[in-house]
Amino acid sequence: RPGAQQWVPPGSGLDGLRAAAPACHGCELWEPATQVVFSAGSATARVALVGEQPGDQEDRAGEPFVGPAGRLLDQALEAAGIARGDAYVTNAVKHFRFTQTAPGKRRIHQTPDRVHVEACKPWLVSELAVVDPEVVVCLGATAAKALLGPAFRVTKSRGQLFPRLVADQSDEAAVQAGWLMATIHPSAVLHAGTGTDDAEAARDAAFAGLVEDLKVAAAALA
Ligand code: URA
Ligand code: SF4
Repeated sequence: RPGAQQWVPPGSGLDGLRAAAPACHGCELWEPATQVVFSAGSATARVALVGEQPGDQEDRAGEPFVGPAGRLLDQALEAAGIARGDAYVTNAVKHFRFTQTAPGKRRIHQTPDRVHVEACKPWLVSELAVVDPEVVVCLGATAAKALLGPAFRVTKSRGQLFPRLVADQSDEAAVQAGWLMATIHPSAVLHAGTGTDDAEAARDAAFAGLVEDLKVAAAALA
């Protein structure tokens, strides 16, 4: 059966999950990638931020959000008053998906398909179960669809808090475990207004919108 489930050690803490992830062959994305990029941040973080997938720099470094989108995210978190130590940062898909015309040529980001997101979801579900954050913020459509359903539209429902439901250990009824929300991906801020006369104003507006949404997450912290 395809998917990551058989590689996810049951009942593991974050260290156990992180140690097991490099062996995952739950979909074909492991093969051309340099390495798995699992997550960064502490198991006691109160906010989890879920991106799409590692980019070129993250694939080389083995760490999420260390490239341009990561620097933008750090600025937005700071502006929203979310401390780095309060944030757990991960991705919906743990391997970099890219196209490359020839070896040594630039690797071009390719959005993961729904099959990759579904295949990789057991990692995301397991890490969120361990961290059990008060708020999970989906950065962009890929993460939002993974956790809020394929019909979710970021443009329509960004910045809104939804209950995060998990199965209760004892009776399997759904119980609320904090909040879920979605906002734009930090790379959407970097690309806002590209090719227009006032790209800087478009970027500033997109950044302000991201910060405003992150402030909703910050305000939801107990
Ligand atoms: N974009 C993402 O979605 N995740 C990363 O880790 C880096 C860039
Ligand atoms: Fe496994 Fe996810 Fe990597 Fe696919 S992308 S091989 S499911 S870790």
